[in-house]
Amino acid sequence: MYNIRIERTTCPKEKPGADNPLKFGTIFTDHMFICDYIEGQGWVDPRVVPYQPLSLDPSCMVFHYGQEMFEGLKAYRSEDGRTLMFRPDKNIERAARSNKRLCMPEIPKELFMEGLQAVVGIDKDWVPTKPGTSLYVRPFMIATDPFLGVRPSSTYKFMIILSPVGAYYESGLDPVKIWIEDEYVRAVKGGIGEAKTGGNYVASLSAQVKAHDEGYAQVLWLDGVHRKYIEEVGAMNIFFKINGVVVTPELNGSILPGVTRQSTIDLCKMWGIPVEEKRISVDEIVEAAKSGAMEECFGTGTAAVVSPVGELRYENEKMVIGGGAIGPVTQRIYDTITGIQLGKIEGPEGWVVEIK
Ligand SMILES: Cc1ncc(COP(=O)(O)O)c(C=O)c1O
Repeated sequence: MYNIRIERTTCPKEKPGADNPLKFGTIFTDHMFICDYIEGQGWVDPRVVPYQPLSLDPSCMVFHYGQEMFEGLKAYRSEDGRTLMFRPDKNIERAARSNKRLCMPEIPKELFMEGLQAVVGIDKDWVPTKPGTSLYVRPFMIATDPFLGVRPSSTYKFMIILSPVGAYYESGLDPVKIWIEDEYVRAVKGGIGEAKTGGNYVASLSAQVKAHDEGYAQVLWLDGVHRKYIEEVGAMNIFFKINGVVVTPELNGSILPGVTRQSTIDLCKMWGIPVEEKRISVDEIVEAAKSGAMEECFGTGTAAVVSPVGELRYENEKMVIGGGAIGPVTQRIYDTITGIQLGKIEGPEGWVVEIK
């Protein structure tokens, strides 16, 4: 057990009203978790403090060389009033893999979990209750040595902030239009694509702007070497159902291993739906979409859980999937995962963790 110091705010903020749309990432709660790492001493002074700006030296390494990791998960309010988190152990494991790749010290699992419990616990009245809403949890870690020069930092800050967020879908699951990008690449094998770190997201901005300008919601990336194999969407992993088989790109080092992706694979296996992780070429996708063999296409991620894809655009080809409507497997995965997250459906052992 870590001895987490608690400093409660003396001026709590006004909580958003029930009609507030809770635009993603705009409202933050009363408290935050912080823990410092100092080489030679390890993790020191874990604390929950009032949410506040940070004071950092302008030479801090994170500002110059981008040594940082972040995570994203959610806490939900169940009908019987409990506060539940979905598979936080998976985010903790992914953070450990990201940190390893980014030459940052590992955050002990217990420290991470106790930090989550402490800060979400203290701000649990901020978990919104309307259907589809949740408390987004953003753990992150930054390099803080005041030093110019490329090397791993010897000091870090690990923090957790919380943000109430509205329903991703206002009415039903709206299929999105996706742009398959053939000019820019997000990540390459051997790079940092499988780590959750800011550099991957800044690398994605140009293509995202281009896709938005063309009227597409998100970018579907191709591999950085051949520009031929399907990787993932901007903030989601991608699945296709082709001739009755659910397929998703295999984890090859340049794709983020999504928690929702793994949960989708686990559920398909439990239900006896054939599911394969494999290398998928864009040509196969175009052919399957044109021949009608592609029955469904959907993205998976914490923000939306499941996002049906109604149209794929590759070069000058526009392909409408499933008549632009949501397919039955996509709907079943959405209903099941959200049911488990809200405590309405009993999920596999350990998928839901209660915050006391
Ligand atoms: C690049 C990328 N891929 C996939 C995902 C989906 O991951 P998860 O299901 O863990 O949210 C995310 C979101 O975190 C992402 O940013």
